[in-house]
Amino acid sequence: MDHEICLPERAGDTSEALFAALRDALGTTAVLTGDDIPTRNEQDWSTLGPQRPLAVLRPMDTPGVAAAMRICAQYRVPVVPQGGLTGLCGGARPIEGAVALSLERMVGIEEIDPASATMTVRAGTPLQSVQEAADEAGFFIPLDLGARGSCAIGGNLSTNAGGNRVIRYGMAREMVLGLEVVLPDGSVVTNLNKMLKNNAGYDLKHLFIGSEGTLGIITRIVLRLSAKPGCTMAALCALESYDKLIALLNAARHGLGPLLSAFEVMWPDYWQTVTQRVPGVSNPLPGEHACYVLIEAQGMDEAYDAPRFEAWLMHQIEDGVLADGVLAQSLGDVQAFWGVRDACAEFPQVLGPHEPFDIGLPVAVMDEYVNACLAALRARFAEAVALFYGHIGDGNLHIVACVPGASPQPKEEITAIVYGLVQQFGGTISAEHGIGITKKPWLPYTRSEPEIALMRRLKAALDPLNLLNPGKVV
Ligand code: LAC
Ligand code: ZN
Repeated sequence: MDHEICLPERAGDTSEALFAALRDALGTTAVLTGDDIPTRNEQDWSTLGPQRPLAVLRPMDTPGVAAAMRICAQYRVPVVPQGGLTGLCGGARPIEGAVALSLERMVGIEEIDPASATMTVRAGTPLQSVQEAADEAGFFIPLDLGARGSCAIGGNLSTNAGGNRVIRYGMAREMVLGLEVVLPDGSVVTNLNKMLKNNAGYDLKHLFIGSEGTLGIITRIVLRLSAKPGCTMAALCALESYDKLIALLNAARHGLGPLLSAFEVMWPDYWQTVTQRVPGVSNPLPGEHACYVLIEAQGMDEAYDAPRFEAWLMHQIEDGVLADGVLAQSLGDVQAFWGVRDACAEFPQVLGPHEPFDIGLPVAVMDEYVNACLAALRARFAEAVALFYGHIGDGNLHIVACVPGASPQPKEEITAIVYGLVQQFGGTISAEHGIGITKKPWLPYTRSEPEIALMRRLKAALDPLNLLNPGKVV
């Protein structure tokens, strides 16, 4: 598919004048050019490979970001915002002729306000630091994902990250009360709102959350803090059919109520691959089963909540919903259970080159989709490997697919099969990873023409020169 991007016209080579203007405004250490451009800024975690930016800008604060945007607009040079560079769809990967604007020096917690239960944080702060600061203050940041040590909170918001606890707390969007944003023309819009309720006109923050740095650059954030859980319970379960899995999900929704914090499903090929081939991952549920579930619940009082969870689990076994199940007896067990689910991080080593997918489907048709997808992939490539797993309580399925030994991988054909069926089943081509550049050709499979036209109108209204992350998303 075509990833070509139309860029605004520039008159001659103005790079040196641009760099001088930027150095003048931001200071010399904030403008890296030539051999000083770090290789890490050339790509993200997508499989697109490196692209050298014209320069890497590292402003220290919001006025610095605003000045950088103003100057780049004056010189008609596109800007690609960068956070922790852990995105999987190329949203933060530079494009030719663009400068990368990294928020890596805009880190730190500005304030924790216990009365409002909010934290004000700079956008470049790593998610894990945000989580730790909340914990030290006696609060909890429920946003959590595998890349926590590297990803930046600003990037989490610009992609509206999902992760492992969406079933209880919602996506990143739900955790934001206020934002400060720099627009493509360099103007600053600050609304560091701390109130849960604020219906004074349009809620503009939602324009920027999930728009992948195409409408503005998020610089500061007011996050809503949650109560720190007092205990975590977990179980790994094996089931004989997808119907039983739906029964278990409903039993968990009703029986565990708001305590239910994760419902992660793994299909048998996934389970066998990680338990047999990923070092350090054990198999606590031997035998063959139709699917496996990691259920997690977080309560406030262990003496009360842990026995309730155990009784609920026993009830599922007695009712015949579960074929087998193991209950975590310690925090070590909880971590080991998550180890089975997090082992997907080892797929590059275990499977070699493969295509990763992040699709969404109504929960009821998920297993039908899995069977149809596997059958279609195998009909085209007899040797195809496809592993299915994900946040099924959220209607979010991850797939990794490859044809072992094929070089290059038949990426286009695999993608067409996976997304063709997504369209047929009424799903989405991106549940939580975003569109970036890699999924852009497929956006019409999920969004209607009027929806995409409206997205383009918003983009043109906020970025008429098409300078901020041009060519991404729409
Ligand atoms: C996960 C990432 C791939 O859920 O979203 O493991
Ligand atoms: Zn995920």
